[in-house]
Amino acid sequence: MERRWMSEAQANTLEWFSYKVRPMLREIRAKLATYLSVRSFPRTDHGQHSLKFKYQIQVPTSTVVFVENASQGINAVVRSLNFKPTDTVLLTNVTYGMARNAVLFAQKRFGFNIITVDLSFPTDENQILEAFRPHLEGGNVTLALFDHISSGPAVIFPLDKLIPMAKENGAMVLVDGAHAVGQVPLNLTALNPDFYVSNGHKWMCSPPGSAFLYVRSELQYLIHPTVISFGYNPTLNNTYVAEFEWIGTRDFSAWLAWKTALEFRLNLTDTAVHAYNNDLCLNASQLFIDRWPGAYRLAPSNMTASLTNVVIPCNNKGNNSTAGCYVGWDLVSLYEVLHTKWNIWPFITELYPGGPRYIRLSCQIYLSLADYELLATAMDSVISWN
Ligand SMILES: Cc1ncc(COP(=O)(O)O)c(C=O)c1O
Repeated sequence: MERRWMSEAQANTLEWFSYKVRPMLREIRAKLATYLSVRSFPRTDHGQHSLKFKYQIQVPTSTVVFVENASQGINAVVRSLNFKPTDTVLLTNVTYGMARNAVLFAQKRFGFNIITVDLSFPTDENQILEAFRPHLEGGNVTLALFDHISSGPAVIFPLDKLIPMAKENGAMVLVDGAHAVGQVPLNLTALNPDFYVSNGHKWMCSPPGSAFLYVRSELQYLIHPTVISFGYNPTLNNTYVAEFEWIGTRDFSAWLAWKTALEFRLNLTDTAVHAYNNDLCLNASQLFIDRWPGAYRLAPSNMTASLTNVVIPCNNKGNNSTAGCYVGWDLVSLYEVLHTKWNIWPFITELYPGGPRYIRLSCQIYLSLADYELLATAMDSVISWN
């Protein structure tokens, strides 16, 4: 689809840019806003979709704009806000590097304070809430930057409790939901963040460059794209949509591809996709736990959707101490064999420098348990478990 839009644009560029593309983008933004207003999350067996909302309040189309990626969305918010030196921005030790850097960049300009909440793993919902509570309830946080699903390790944050905790204590909330759309059902009206960013190019299977930014209506006057363009009008209070809609002549095909991505997901029945991926992740991680004594997950099932992390034990006796660990294999030679001999590209990293290594498993509808069995066999062909 992306290529089809590219050739249509090239066929008559004047017609395309002057008349065609903007109405199409508005229509797709409206569809996306509806997708971000899912009324109830009917799945209750693993707990993660058990939120139920009494009312479906449609996310207004005017709150949702397209951006290239989470990096652009997070930067637009962090770099637009006028902080004071007495302000405080709250991050965590697992905040994605780009988001942390955007905050560090703003800190250099405004001189505000940064609190980094230290999260340890394995974790559960209560531990996460208690780690944030003293900082948020202190009432000094200006902006709290929460992951929806962190990247390393991948864990669903209990936003339904964290966002009220932050807002009741006077903080604005920016959510890095880079991994969330398509992985978990979203109801932005119910979650009620101030700013929310997510990538279609992770779990919606749309092409790279297809992300969105949500900004609550009352705060839109504060937020501008990192590029100021024709859409900006200093005599008007709020030019949010116009500014993000036209950030210069560009290739709009990745944004237009949202249409197909949304239709694809809705045709498959979205809840069935979530359920399949989640079951697959729980079963795949169990497969490794059963195979490798001492292996364990870093988050419980109610904090897991389509990404799960399994700690790789040191040896077949379940010894997880790091000293003398991983005898007989190093990551470089493991990758070398997995890439060249098995054509498998896994994501393996350390929980913290020098700490336990874990593998992050991604689960998507084109995969089945047999794929993870193959991965386990491939890893066992390299790792010496003695
Ligand atoms: C949690 C999180 N935030 C932000 C990003 C950045 O996304 P992008 O590179 O599309 O800007 C990623 C990418 O993996 C991520 O995992």
